[in-house]
Amino acid sequence: MRFKDFERIVFFTGAGMSAESGVPTYRGAGGIWREYDYRAYACQDAFNHDPEHVWEFHNYRRGIVGACAPNRGHEIIAELEATHHVTVVTQNIDGLHQLAGSTNVIELHGSLWRLRCDHCGNRHRGRENPLEELHCTACHSYWRPDIVWFGDTLNFENIQDAQHALQECDLMISIGTSGVVYPAAALPMVAKRSGARMVEVNPELTDMSVLYDVNFRTTASEALTEMSGA
Ligand code: APR
Ligand code: ZN
Repeated sequence: MRFKDFERIVFFTGAGMSAESGVPTYRGAGGIWREYDYRAYACQDAFNHDPEHVWEFHNYRRGIVGACAPNRGHEIIAELEATHHVTVVTQNIDGLHQLAGSTNVIELHGSLWRLRCDHCGNRHRGRENPLEELHCTACHSYWRPDIVWFGDTLNFENIQDAQHALQECDLMISIGTSGVVYPAAALPMVAKRSGARMVEVNPELTDMSVLYDVNFRTTASEALTEMSGA
């Protein structure tokens, strides 16, 4: 399985893509949701009830993620833009694909580094770490992290763009996702139905593993390095 045999590649990435960068995953050993109840920190009700408490958690996450750099896997995906049509459809909110140089990134679950104000529509993008000013610069309501929390609907354009890329690709590579959170988890099926070659990169078996033609039971950077070979 080599990139050189394909032209249009979609990388569908999850938290495992950033594990080698030091970003904790959500499930499995050391996973965030083993330590924190997402209902208290990552849903609209929690934010409405106690925005300062939710911001405490998100500033904690900014601190950890902000100290992490892209790994070799992120860099390989970014470098492929020079020779292939590459789309990154990521569930990650860490911004590491963009830091590595990827330019065509669909952030299905938003970004830790983007803010929005649901009162006046104001938006802000920045890597303040921690975010000190928690209030919108226009109307002084609390900034809301521009992250898709449990119970939120995904951005329609993002889903459309992702589906289009998955319909058009000849190679779809899923990297570092447990494939348990919908609707994102259903997206790889679009590529399968369109006849793309399907590759999964995950050290562990997942519920989605049966979907794939090739399974690399290894880390993101190891598998991507191998696929870059001659
Ligand atoms: N390389 C590749 N995969 C890895 C690595 C690695 N170095 N280390 C761990 N993994 C795999 C794990 O085996 C696991 O299957 O990455 C996967 C991470 O799964 P999750 O922690 O569930 O992360 P993810 O699938 O991205 O979660 C989806 O859930 O909480 C929500 O919004 C959040 O976007 C997130 C969504
Ligand atoms: Zn505002």
